[in-house]
Amino acid sequence: MISPDAIRMQVREHYAGRATGQGCCGASDPDAACCTPSAAETLEHFEGPSLGCGSPLEHAQLRPGEIVVDLGSGAGREVLLAARQVSPTGRAVGIDMTPEMVWKARDNAARTAIPNAEFRLGEIEYIPLPDASADAVISNCVINLVPDKTAAFREAYRILKPGGRLVVSDIVSNGPLPDAVRNSAEAWSACVAGALDVADYLSAIARAGFVETETLSSGEARKGQVYSVTVKARKAGMEPAAL
Ligand SMILES: C[S@@+](CC[C@H](N)C(=O)[O-])C[C@H]1O[C@@H](n2cnc3c(N)ncnc32)[C@H](O)[C@@H]1O
Repeated sequence: MISPDAIRMQVREHYAGRATGQGCCGASDPDAACCTPSAAETLEHFEGPSLGCGSPLEHAQLRPGEIVVDLGSGAGREVLLAARQVSPTGRAVGIDMTPEMVWKARDNAARTAIPNAEFRLGEIEYIPLPDASADAVISNCVINLVPDKTAAFREAYRILKPGGRLVVSDIVSNGPLPDAVRNSAEAWSACVAGALDVADYLSAIARAGFVETETLSSGEARKGQVYSVTVKARKAGMEPAAL
């Protein structure tokens, strides 16, 4: 059985190597599962890979003035697009545990001249942000890479304001995956081995305290295979704007 720390090391090394890559992956790419072009909007002068598996931003309905946090922000594309949507008074914050990705994302913030985006080095199981500080949390193809998914969802819940929303695109499975896949470090970093059965994924979100969980889009797969979903949920309480 592969240990949580071995998974983290493998995932970090893998994405450090991808930080300088371009675009998305081809069909033969080992990251094919975590590589569906996201957020159709273009971002001039952006450099680096987009390694998502959905478009959480399309469903987050961000408003000017809001604070949005992207868990596992990679090269920063979605944070930068989100920052534009919440400008001029809002802010978008990306969290990623791979230094090379954070450096690439900061470089992209400078190249695209988007001033209200920031990138912090950190693990999403221990988010470096205070309680109740975000209006929306988004994430694109990251939670499957995390050994303790419940901890990541609990942290997302903690940093959201009452009434705040979570929108995640991620890889899930139809039933359990074969042990040989689950125990492959390479399959973890390719967004396959860490995929939870969809019912377990949705219950991890509910266990963290979220309500009104809704599946917004879903692929499909045969038993024992993986596919992508986009899920929205809410932290109970009144939306600050409605107070
Ligand atoms: C598949 S890529 C997706 C990147 C980005 N969301 C995108 O759509 O391009 C996964 C990213 O999650 C980061 N990551 C994986 N596990 C993490 C963790 N536990 N905490 C923070 N970041 C993590 C990796 O470093 C990598 O940048």
